[in-house]
Amino acid sequence: MKVYAINGSPRKNQNTAKLLQKALDGVKESAKDKEVETKIINLYDLNFTGCISCFACKRLEGKSYGKCAVKDDLYEILNEVSQADGIILGSPIYFLNITGQLKSFLERLLFPYLAYAPNHPSIAPKRMPTAFIYTMGATEEMMNDTNLAATFNIQGISILSTLNIMETWIERTLTKPEVLHSYDTYQFDDYSKYKADMFSEEEKAEHRRVQFPLDCQKAFELGANLIK
Ligand SMILES: Cc1cc2nc3c(=O)[nH]c(=O)nc-3n(C[C@H](O)[C@H](O)[C@H](O)COP(=O)(O)O)c2cc1C
Repeated sequence: MKVYAINGSPRKNQNTAKLLQKALDGVKESAKDKEVETKIINLYDLNFTGCISCFACKRLEGKSYGKCAVKDDLYEILNEVSQADGIILGSPIYFLNITGQLKSFLERLLFPYLAYAPNHPSIAPKRMPTAFIYTMGATEEMMNDTNLAATFNIQGISILSTLNIMETWIERTLTKPEVLHSYDTYQFDDYSKYKADMFSEEEKAEHRRVQFPLDCQKAFELGANLIK
């Protein structure tokens, strides 16, 4: 069995990466005697683009029908991930969205699976369980506040619910992801060295001390439930 964590953060040892590692620890724990291999793929180590619209994946009788034909650092990884027994995606929120690198990865992974046919049926070779872990500097209250969302011209829904769009594509092509949000993350090692007076360092530190370990526990459980 193989379970992959896809790290959409440029940082390899911060909030997103830590939660992904906990999730993989949970996978290992629940697998017990079953052989399970886990791997973190750090997208920012790789040279790749998003979908380039070549449509080789839609070309009838083409040798790349249903798979991405672009030969860069993602090519082999996409082959491996398409056969995985579980995929855990992780992203910091950048400008109210997942990072560009993770968006590019998902374009390349998912677009070949979406047949251009009524209702977009999935032709993915395997529909493994999936999960999505988001980390963000905003608090839970901010992410759920529709008035705050309105200041970004998002009317009638919260910022948090805009993240559902990519989750829906994942559900259509693979499976519905289990989701974990980790809010109010600690961003710097020393707040006094940065212009960051919109935050209270004490509150951030307290949140990291009390809430982040709970988020790590939730990530562990998310991983443990993934391959059950
Ligand atoms: C370019 C950039 C944009 C960001 N935009 C947002 C944002 O829109 N909303 C938010 O809550 N946090 C935002 N953040 C904060 C990060 O989402 C947060 O610190 C995250 O936990 C970082 O993950 P990491 O520690 O794994 O790198 C932003 C950070 C950066 C660097």
